[in-house]
Amino acid sequence: MIRVNKIAHATYETPDLDKQTEYYTEILGLTLVSKEKDIVYLASTVDHHSVVLRRGGNAQCVRLGFQIPPDADLSEFEKQVAALGIKTQRKKDPEPTISDVVTFADPKGTTMEVFKRDSFSHQRFQSKGVVPFKLGHVAFHVTDVKHVTKFYCDVLGFRESDWMADFFSFLRCGPDHHTINLVETGSNRHFHTAFELRDWGHMHDACDLLSLNGYKLLWGPGRHGIGHNLFTYHRGPNDLITELFTELDQMNEELGYFEPRPWHRDVPQRPKVWAKDPSAANLWGIMPGDDMMK
Ligand SMILES: [Fe+2]
Repeated sequence: MIRVNKIAHATYETPDLDKQTEYYTEILGLTLVSKEKDIVYLASTVDHHSVVLRRGGNAQCVRLGFQIPPDADLSEFEKQVAALGIKTQRKKDPEPTISDVVTFADPKGTTMEVFKRDSFSHQRFQSKGVVPFKLGHVAFHVTDVKHVTKFYCDVLGFRESDWMADFFSFLRCGPDHHTINLVETGSNRHFHTAFELRDWGHMHDACDLLSLNGYKLLWGPGRHGIGHNLFTYHRGPNDLITELFTELDQMNEELGYFEPRPWHRDVPQRPKVWAKDPSAANLWGIMPGDDMMK
C-alpha cells in the first residue's frame, strides 16, 4: 500500500480574508508567499504553503494536502484509491509548486489533495509573531468517528495511535503521535488546527504575544494525556480554533511504541484505548470550558 507520510497544507474558506491573513502573518508569524484576488498562500517551513486562505461565506477547513514519498508512484496511488470505489480527479499544476495532484473527498466532504513534493521553498525565518516549526495536525468534529477513522487508515494509510473510549481517535501518518484527530459530536466540522512550537519557553512567549494582541486562551496551558503534548488553544479572528503545542509523543514504528518520556505512565507507551477520564485530556487537571466545543 502507498501511504501518505506528511501533512503539507490545510486550506480554509474565510469571510474576511484580510483579517485572517493579518492573524497568520502578524500573530502566528507565517510567511505570506503569494496573494491572488481571493487566495492567500502562507508558509512556515520548506513547503511553499502550509496554510491556504480562500475567500468564502463560512469559516471552514475545506481541503487538506498530503505528501506521498518521493519514490512512490502517484498513478499507482490513484489506482489504489479508485479500487476502493472512491471517485478521484487528477489535476496538473493546481497550486504553486505542486505539479500533479490526485484529489478526492473524505466521508465528511473535505477534499484530500495528495501529491509528491518536487520543489522546496526557501522562506527566511520570520522575526515577528509566534513562528511555529510546522503545521502539526488538524482535528475535526465528525458524526461517525469509526467510519471516518477507517477511511483515513484504509485509503490514505494512517495508523491508529490512540482512542479516547469509542468517540475520539488520534491518527498518525509519520512519527508524530497524531496528524488527524476525530471526535464524534454529532456534526461534521473543523475542531482545531495545531502548530508545533520549539519548547515551553516558546509557548510562554506565544501566550504573551497572544495576550498583548487581544487573543485569550480557551484552554491551557496543560499537558494532554493522549499524545502527552503541552498545549494551549485560542480562537483566530474567523472563530476557528488554533492549538499551539510542543513535546508531542513520537512513534518508533519498528519498536511499536512511543519514544519514552519521563511523564509516560505506561512503560512502554503503546497505542491503546484510553478511558474517558480527565487525565486523558489534561494530566495537569484543568478541564476546558464549554467554549472549546462550540
Ligand atoms: Fe490538537
